[in-house]
Amino acid sequence: MTAPKHALTNEITSLKRSAEKRSSELRTADDLEKFRIEFLARKGGIAVLFDKLKTIPADQKPSLGKQLNELRVFVESLFETKRQEFGAEKKTTEKVLDITLPGRTVPIGTLHPITHTLNNIVTIFASMGFAVASGPEIEDDFHNFEALNFPPDHPARDMQDTFFISEKILLRTHTSPVQIRVMEHQEPPIRVIMPGRVYRNEAISARSLSQFHQVEGLYVDRNVTFSELKGTLVAFAKEFYGSDIKYKFRPSFFPFTEPSLEMDITCFICSGKGCPMCKKSGWLEVLGAGMVHPNVFRKIGYDPEMVTGFAFGMGIERTTVLRLGIPDLRMLLENDIKFLEQF
Ligand code: DAH
Repeated sequence: MTAPKHALTNEITSLKRSAEKRSSELRTADDLEKFRIEFLARKGGIAVLFDKLKTIPADQKPSLGKQLNELRVFVESLFETKRQEFGAEKKTTEKVLDITLPGRTVPIGTLHPITHTLNNIVTIFASMGFAVASGPEIEDDFHNFEALNFPPDHPARDMQDTFFISEKILLRTHTSPVQIRVMEHQEPPIRVIMPGRVYRNEAISARSLSQFHQVEGLYVDRNVTFSELKGTLVAFAKEFYGSDIKYKFRPSFFPFTEPSLEMDITCFICSGKGCPMCKKSGWLEVLGAGMVHPNVFRKIGYDPEMVTGFAFGMGIERTTVLRLGIPDLRMLLENDIKFLEQF
């Protein structure tokens, strides 16, 4: 009864070596699990040696048992070290899913201040029953001038410095041609609001641009009256500029309306006291309007004896910069994200 002692000691030593070697080769959690099964599980290498220990004579058991226990502690510590290594990896993944971390902000754009103003204006008129229409920015002479009662060679055409593409084709100088396009395709009653971009051959400066935006309005039906025009404009101005504003109407001239007017409101920068913005007058010009000229109705085939209507048009850029305190109109066109994001 001597041999088993050596045999088992050798087996213990070789199992220890092989466990050491195998543990240094572990790369994944799967590898680690295989390692555990091979050495530490109920039928693993160590358990097999413990089984053998049962057959060892009693006098040799304590020493061999001690060696086997040391082997187990050793292999378990190998396993534990690796488990922590792989476990640490797992923790990193968990951190990514930490729901207490603030979310990543997805950068989203903001509306351009001009779009914002246009949307506000359109919403107000939509609530009064106006539909929205649009037309082309490259226009012909007929829609931009002739149908709007600008006779050929009439000085009124000089009111609007035009970019011509050819003799009869141009960049629209105002949104009024959309009135004509709507009336060509539709019978009264018509109630439309027409936002859009317009172009004028003007020197670019802090106070003027060669492309800008307007909103046009048109209401045509039987018996549309001048007082309805005024009522509509006042309702709009109070909603858009504030219910406490003061306003006034001045007689004016546009070839496509008769009578024509311009609307002024108290300067909302100085509340009417007089400042550089309103050129010390206390008033700001906000829009042009009037009753649709009978010649306009004739051009598109409506009978001016049967229908009447009013129209109005306003620029968008100036109101926008005044309200937001932007000192230079050109900033609206530079597309500087840092500037635009503020609004
Ligand atoms: N189209 C004019 C302009 O650009 C503005 C305007 C005035 C439009 C009177 C209208 C209107 O519809 O009735 O200066």
